[in-house]
Amino acid sequence: MNQTRIAEQELGEVELMRENFRRDVLKGFSRPVKSLPCKYFYDQEGARLFEMICELEEYYPTRTEVGILRRKIKEIAPLPGPDCSLVELGSGSCVKTRLLLDHLDRPACYVPVDVARTQLLECSANLAQDYADMEVLPVCADYTNHFELPNFPPISKRTVVFFPGSTIGNFEPDEAERFLQRIVGLCGTEGGLLIGVDLKKDPRVLHAAYNDARGVTAAFNLNVLTRANRELDARFDLSQFQHQAFYNQTAGRVEMHLVSRRRQVIPVSGMKFFFAEGESIITEYSYKYGRDEFHQLAARAGWAVRQCWTDENDWFGVYYLVPHAPESH
Ligand code: AVJ
Repeated sequence: MNQTRIAEQELGEVELMRENFRRDVLKGFSRPVKSLPCKYFYDQEGARLFEMICELEEYYPTRTEVGILRRKIKEIAPLPGPDCSLVELGSGSCVKTRLLLDHLDRPACYVPVDVARTQLLECSANLAQDYADMEVLPVCADYTNHFELPNFPPISKRTVVFFPGSTIGNFEPDEAERFLQRIVGLCGTEGGLLIGVDLKKDPRVLHAAYNDARGVTAAFNLNVLTRANRELDARFDLSQFQHQAFYNQTAGRVEMHLVSRRRQVIPVSGMKFFFAEGESIITEYSYKYGRDEFHQLAARAGWAVRQCWTDENDWFGVYYLVPHAPESH
């Protein structure tokens, strides 16, 4: 493919993404309780703010998950076997990826899938350079929708999906189940799924993690309004919305909201939306699972737990799942 065609294709994808954003904003704002899908957090600035969140003292998940991967890598890395293709959903900065790739037995191919295009292409180029014997095939896509996997090199023996960061928690439990079911289709009966899951814990720990003292999470949350202003010709005044995050114990999830500080009318893409004082937009759910609760969810989706690792506080779980053997159905 020549340069021009690549450029046209990229432009097409950027426009498509904006159309989806417009559709989802209009749909989400026309409901009795306003909401916005959390995937729209990750524009260039949002991806940068998320990297900052991962460095925060209060935000334990990234640090805890990386700690587990580091400590248990000798047990984890042999499970996919030699010459595997690794598909990572929501690859971001690829920090955890390198840890895994460094210990896998001759990985044949690495397929990062992410919506944050700039970060995706930059990280892919770096990995391609650093891992000379491995193919790198980035896919810029929203993996919550249908997407095509590229052709793996013929040497590839099996497909293993890597889904770290507890992003599975962003789905409602029934969606999570359907999503996990779809992954069986991606990796086939011989493959596996290495997934990170944030576990239930003291609500005070959760509260602090989503209400950091420096306000980075607040900026991350509010940034989606800046994105709407830029991409959808919306007129949000960021000073008139407030970040709110709390643990909903009944539902077992952290909820992030943007709360309107006053009565206001906001133009978005040629339409107008009314906000009452104190009315909120739900911007993210982050479900927390009990260890057995996640086992059961995985089982309903067709997966068996091969092995599970946690940290010393039981705050975070890393699971290696394999498709159910047919006889265990
Ligand atoms: C990347 C989705 C796992 O839910 O904790 C961080 C995103 N939101 N701070 C999470 C997030 C607020 C994060 N995930």
